[in-house]
Amino acid sequence: MNPVEILPGVQWVGVLDPQLRVFDVIMEAKHGTTYNSYLVRGRDKVALIDASKAAFAKTFLDTLRPAIELAAIDYMVCNHLEPDHSGALADVLDVAPQAQVVATKPGRMLLRAILNRDIKPMIAGEGDRIDLGGKTLRFIPAPFLHWPDTMFTYLEEDQVLFSGDFLGAHYCDPRLFNDLIPNYDEAFQHYFQVIMRPFKEYVRQALDKIDALPIRAVCPDHGPILRTEVRRYLDRYRMWSAEPPAPASKRMLVFYVSAYGNTEKMAHAIGRGIREAGADAEVVDLATADVRAMLDDIEAAQGIVVGTCTINGDALEQTWSLLGSLTTIKLKDKLGATFGAFGWSGEGPLMLAERMKGLKFRVPEEPLRVQLVPTDADLKSCAEYGKRLVAAL
Ligand code: FEO
Repeated sequence: MNPVEILPGVQWVGVLDPQLRVFDVIMEAKHGTTYNSYLVRGRDKVALIDASKAAFAKTFLDTLRPAIELAAIDYMVCNHLEPDHSGALADVLDVAPQAQVVATKPGRMLLRAILNRDIKPMIAGEGDRIDLGGKTLRFIPAPFLHWPDTMFTYLEEDQVLFSGDFLGAHYCDPRLFNDLIPNYDEAFQHYFQVIMRPFKEYVRQALDKIDALPIRAVCPDHGPILRTEVRRYLDRYRMWSAEPPAPASKRMLVFYVSAYGNTEKMAHAIGRGIREAGADAEVVDLATADVRAMLDDIEAAQGIVVGTCTINGDALEQTWSLLGSLTTIKLKDKLGATFGAFGWSGEGPLMLAERMKGLKFRVPEEPLRVQLVPTDADLKSCAEYGKRLVAAL
């Protein structure tokens, strides 16, 4: 696509990827995406902000060429170095070796590993500025949105915020501007949920940093450029990144998958013990649960208990899937525990406990296991186990 003027001296020079359906291997992108890049031209100097994905390097350079002679780029500003924005960086520097790369301090280490060449970037610290001649770029480090290197670049005279992935969306429409395309709120929210949600604390810090800035337009690295209703988009990030209110009572979720009903009996006994200890408990059968719809609930709970029977020396796939789906929520210090009935070996709950530790759950109890059919005494032990978990919250 040809360069598109956003306002005098500022152009979009990105790449459209309408065919993309899965981003980063894990994220559905049913509307495709764009890899946005921006050219800011002052009286004296020119800056390029963010590059593109390696697979689109040629397309990216072909888009840039009508906008500028590549040897005239003075600054290559890297707001974010994930490979969808840095994969084509080496190609840019090959044709524009004079360009001074600008990145945050954490970005410097990433740059070396991405380019595998000796490079001396200009380190952008809080409030540092580059004067392009009537266009001043101010750098605002905003780490962990969603990598450690991330920053915003603010064009002071025009009040434009170049925001990296922040406020972006996987949504491809060549009309580029939010006021020219159909409503894409769903894609905007989906992007937040998958990419920004694990970093809510950093989202709040970033919002605080830019709260007082006048912003006429936001230019993110993916999806539409926001030039109307900017406050509405910021407000939604504020709302989604807010800490959930503290629950009135302690709450745990007991998930299980059970082949013959024995692990199920344990699950309900543990749930009963949790309630008897004064906490709220919900027992959930993973064979029928929609875990993705429960992520808010899981995030709000103080702990989760996962039960599995053991088949062929492994925990059941539904339990691995549950734990694998938790990467978008903050788990550190959340209480975790595992249990399960088994036939003769019973590795499943042990394996799940190790996985939960790897996910940074706090796992205070050994897995609780029962061979085949739980006795009344076993079920009493399950209830006691539930009580001990509440005590450990
Ligand atoms: Fe669009 Fe985090 O890269």
